Amino acid sequence: MFTHPNLTVLNHPLVQHKLTLLRQKETSVADFRRIAREISLLMCFEVTRDLPLELVTIETPLEQMQSPMLEGKKLCLVSILRAGNGILEGMLDAVPSARVGHIGLYRDPKTLEPVEYYMKVPEDISERLVIVVDPMLATGHSAAAAVTRLKAAGATQFSFVCLISAPEGLTVFTKAHPDVPVFTCAVDRQLDDHGYIRPGLGDAGDRLFGTK
Ligand code: URA
Repeated sequence: MFTHPNLTVLNHPLVQHKLTLLRQKETSVADFRRIAREISLLMCFEVTRDLPLELVTIETPLEQMQSPMLEGKKLCLVSILRAGNGILEGMLDAVPSARVGHIGLYRDPKTLEPVEYYMKVPEDISERLVIVVDPMLATGHSAAAAVTRLKAAGATQFSFVCLISAPEGLTVFTKAHPDVPVFTCAVDRQLDDHGYIRPGLGDAGDRLFGTK
């Protein structure tokens, strides 16, 4: 079993139940999309557990009080295209005011290295906790490249969120970015020769968008 001080596996019963539904091959595109959104909403609570709060003065209908609110600039969610968008939605359900960035990477067929084809992030990304989302941490190369690119853009504070991870991907990612906490719902057995996580759930993008 892969362990790392920066790895959190969310073993909440609701999360695990929903992940089982997601893995099943009979699950329809509509249900897959809905359940991925529900799980990521639940994951968001764990990922944001340590956000700093400050007391502000408010008026209830009855009296004035000091009450906690999130301090400073809020989050920036960054979706790794395209499957990241499937868990972005649930995160936004929990934190509707979060800023959103997108990063697109493809694997060069010759060098097998990730190549960036799209990136758009908020200008003040350096002032925000950046939560990078991608449902499957498989080889770990895209996730590691995305965080490297976001660090170059000025981001300093990160978490990485995925539904399912492979031990191989966790090794690559945590070696490249030992400073980045990783949140996942499961660490599966292994990657297969085609880069799929086993047992996994298949191709997350195809299952989210019905492209196969
Ligand atoms: N990407 C996916 O969508 N599924 C995998 O199993 C691996 C990478």
